[in-house]
Amino acid sequence: MLYFTRTAAGLLVMLSIVLTGCNDDDPVGPDPGEDVSFSQHVLPIFQQHGCTDCHGATLQENNLRVDSVERLLIGGDQLGPAVIPGNAEESPLIRQMSANPPLGNRMPLGMSPVPESQQNTIRDWINEGAEDN
Ligand code: HEC
Repeated sequence: MLYFTRTAAGLLVMLSIVLTGCNDDDPVGPDPGEDVSFSQHVLPIFQQHGCTDCHGATLQENNLRVDSVERLLIGGDQLGPAVIPGNAEESPLIRQMSANPPLGNRMPLGMSPVPESQQNTIRDWINEGAEDN
């Protein structure tokens, strides 16, 4: 019984470490009413979901880079400008993360979809004018 209690306690400690660890990795969204910032809120989402691994400094699949606003506005080979300031729903960046992407595979390629709450943060940033902030 003592052994069981110790094991259970040990598992609880481990579980809480794992859970706390996950929370630390999750990008922090903007506070209510706060403008979305590209560098503070949007870029960390791209980093968490591997977008910057394939569309960043080392690799530029389809010539697209998502690690700068300037490059997002230029966009990729197939769909053109990835971001249309003020129009998230028409922006290829958002559409390519949806269940019906306009080109090839849903992004991030080969990984779990970006959660809706994080996609909404990106939508807000685009609809607020896609500023380099
Ligand atoms: C493992 C590599 C990989 C990852 C990770 C990845 N992409 Fe892609 N991306 C590609 C490839 C390859 C294409 C070309 C289309 C295809 O093959 O489906 C592409 C195409 C795109 C396009 C269209 C570019 C054009 O030609 O106009 C957009 C937008 C895009 N990705 C955004 C993203 C976003 C946002 C993420 C993260 C949520 C992401 N990608 C993650 C490999 C990747």
